[in-house]
Amino acid sequence: MNKLRCDAISIFPEYFAPLQLSLIGKAIENGLVDIKVHDLRDQATGVHKSVDDTPYGGGAGMVMSPEPWGSAIDQVLGEVDSPTHDLIILTPAGEKFSQKIAEELSQSHHMIFACGRYEGIDQRITDYYRLIPGVRVRELSIGDYVLNGGEVATLTILEAVIRLIPGVLGNPDSLVEESHSMDEDIVEYPNYTKPANWRGLEVPEVLLSGNHALIKRWRLEQAQERTRILGERTGE
Ligand code: ADE
Repeated sequence: MNKLRCDAISIFPEYFAPLQLSLIGKAIENGLVDIKVHDLRDQATGVHKSVDDTPYGGGAGMVMSPEPWGSAIDQVLGEVDSPTHDLIILTPAGEKFSQKIAEELSQSHHMIFACGRYEGIDQRITDYYRLIPGVRVRELSIGDYVLNGGEVATLTILEAVIRLIPGVLGNPDSLVEESHSMDEDIVEYPNYTKPANWRGLEVPEVLLSGNHALIKRWRLEQAQERTRILGERTGE
């Protein structure tokens, strides 16, 4: 089976502790995915172990220097034997991450996540690795808001990608349902479980009817209504 290898490079390696939990933790335990976290600071030279500097051209904030990033990425590329490498650079200026990109990345053999902080990483890191054969560089954003760094974005992308790898989810049927609704741009119908009456709120009667055709129709109508309301709110 295709074992996915992931490397995350960050000045806060502790951020990645949650990867030991839940389904991703199990996927690691079961050998479906291998995740290594690297401290960018290990590549910093100089007495202050600095990894950033002031921007050329002026402006607020600091920019991450290309030298430690180049050393860290080169080291990972040298360590991992793979015909292709996906180098993912997290930035609010990147392409918007989506289920479609998650599906593409779930076919990857090796992903490297470069988690910038401050005003981001010197642009030459993207430009340089775009020229290296076998390296596919993608600048990705997880949404139209600014985070303090790429670590949370990396956790988000890793979770979305790893759950698509065969053997990671207990019940792969849910992937089939999700991918249908994603393809059709429709959100999920509402779900209910026991008890049938909770604080005076009843579960819709149709769901207790046992009539599968009716249930299927009701769920589709609910999903369409939710999609319509969401569209009104977001203007889409
Ligand atoms: N770094 C800062 N904000 C980000 C975002 N929205 N997505 C990805 N990386 C980021």
